[in-house]
Amino acid sequence: MSSVKYINGKQPHKREYRMIFRNVDRQGWDTSIKSYIADGGYKQLKKAIKMKPQEVIDEVKASGLRGRGGAGFPTGVKWGFIPPNNSKPVYLICNCDESEPGTFKDRYIVHQDPHQLIEGMLISCYAVGAKVAYIYIREEFPEGAKILEKAIEEARSKKLLGKKILGTKFDCEIYVHRGAGAYICGEETGLIESLEGKRPYPRIKPPYFPAALGLYMCPTIVNNVESLCHVKHVIAMGGKKYSEIGTPRNTGTRILCVSGDVVNPGYFEIEVGKITMGELIYNVCGGLKKGRKLKAVIPGGSSAKVLSADESYTIHEGETEKVIGIDDIPMDFDTMAQCGSMAGSGGVIVMDDSRDMAWILNNINTFYAHESCGQCTPCREGSLWMKKITDRMVAGSGVPSDLKTLSSIGDNIAGRTICAFGEACAWPTQSFVAKFPKDFKKHTKVRNTKKELNPESKIAAAGLNR
Ligand SMILES: Cc1cc2nc3c(=O)[nH]c(=O)nc-3n(C[C@H](O)[C@H](O)[C@H](O)COP(=O)(O)O)c2cc1C
Ligand code: SF4
Repeated sequence: MSSVKYINGKQPHKREYRMIFRNVDRQGWDTSIKSYIADGGYKQLKKAIKMKPQEVIDEVKASGLRGRGGAGFPTGVKWGFIPPNNSKPVYLICNCDESEPGTFKDRYIVHQDPHQLIEGMLISCYAVGAKVAYIYIREEFPEGAKILEKAIEEARSKKLLGKKILGTKFDCEIYVHRGAGAYICGEETGLIESLEGKRPYPRIKPPYFPAALGLYMCPTIVNNVESLCHVKHVIAMGGKKYSEIGTPRNTGTRILCVSGDVVNPGYFEIEVGKITMGELIYNVCGGLKKGRKLKAVIPGGSSAKVLSADESYTIHEGETEKVIGIDDIPMDFDTMAQCGSMAGSGGVIVMDDSRDMAWILNNINTFYAHESCGQCTPCREGSLWMKKITDRMVAGSGVPSDLKTLSSIGDNIAGRTICAFGEACAWPTQSFVAKFPKDFKKHTKVRNTKKELNPESKIAAAGLNR
């Protein structure tokens, strides 16, 4: 492959390891198949097609690749869940809904390197036996949908897609499906319902695990855009070699999307676990704004539990137990879980000491209350109730019992719903209130509620009811 030069001012940070984002912001690069093939594109598809499908799955298993969509589930293991001796069609779905607040990586892959995704998808289809694949792209990404449609036609014209791919017996079609514009369409079973033309009501698991009962009740693999792109690189270098990038159990690279109170926000592709939170904030992102101190970080998209800068975290490295501060947390799936949060979708939101955590939680609660699909009572009622309380607090009508009520609502949503949206909307409230009680108490006053005006009128006056 040729050496890569980047557009002036867009060079990757020296701590980055560009694999998936190799061509993003690259000088002279465009999204055409000509550029892609000139750069060695589709060679890995040719290589994979010569292997047995099970050999491709074994390479992905050996690579240790974990899903980049949120849960960090091992990709090869998921592929292995397709029932043996299955007689129904198998589908592959690329999840390009990218709706988790704080996450903005998948759209860049689509906008700047669509053929990398298509090659990764074709290899994945070959491995799992899918002849039809869908790219479910968020409604709000119309440009991305157009780019993908064009790339698919280009691939077809080169016999890389359609019937008898590259002269073999492998047939595969990829269709672009524009999403329905809701956060819940990113949840894999909600997405499948939406793709079937219905309301995106998530299905209950069990029994509706997509690998067994997915699209049209057929075995279906749902993977994130970034995960599918990694498949190409696993084939290129072999699973074992790939597994040497990053850290054991947290292999490869991942794209972190950093937003909030840092000097240089943006996307950064790093080796998983090879960089700490402190290095990310102070080195890669240029630190905090002048005179500011770190207050908190949401490490994996808005649904991840918030980490406080004042906390200490107990982590285990093999037999050794260590107590570390926020700056020393390695950016990987397992350590983030040990710290009580999650690496999630890679959306890192940094907050400095100028921030009012009650205001931030209110912003997050507004999102979740709007996005609940409404199937489960705890989620539907609880998300709105939490929003109404934080609305009232920031409008100046909080009461001391609000903190307890908020925590109790969160506790009664998490673990009691059909899909993981329940946790996604409960975890911010549970963690914000527990870790920053002072910020919430500031918004409360003991009141004689009988003499109070209707709190709703205060909300209206503050313009928060829109
Ligand atoms: C409420 C909710 C929203 C989600 N949104 C997305 C999304 O926008 N993109 C995505 O890839 N995964 C999303 N997920 C995770 C998917 O359900 C699924 O686990 C993922 O696409 C699997 O891909 P992976 O194994 O490659 O990570 C969401 C999950 C939940 C619970
Ligand atoms: S948890 Fe919420 S989003 Fe998920 S199915 Fe229930 S109501 Fe819908």
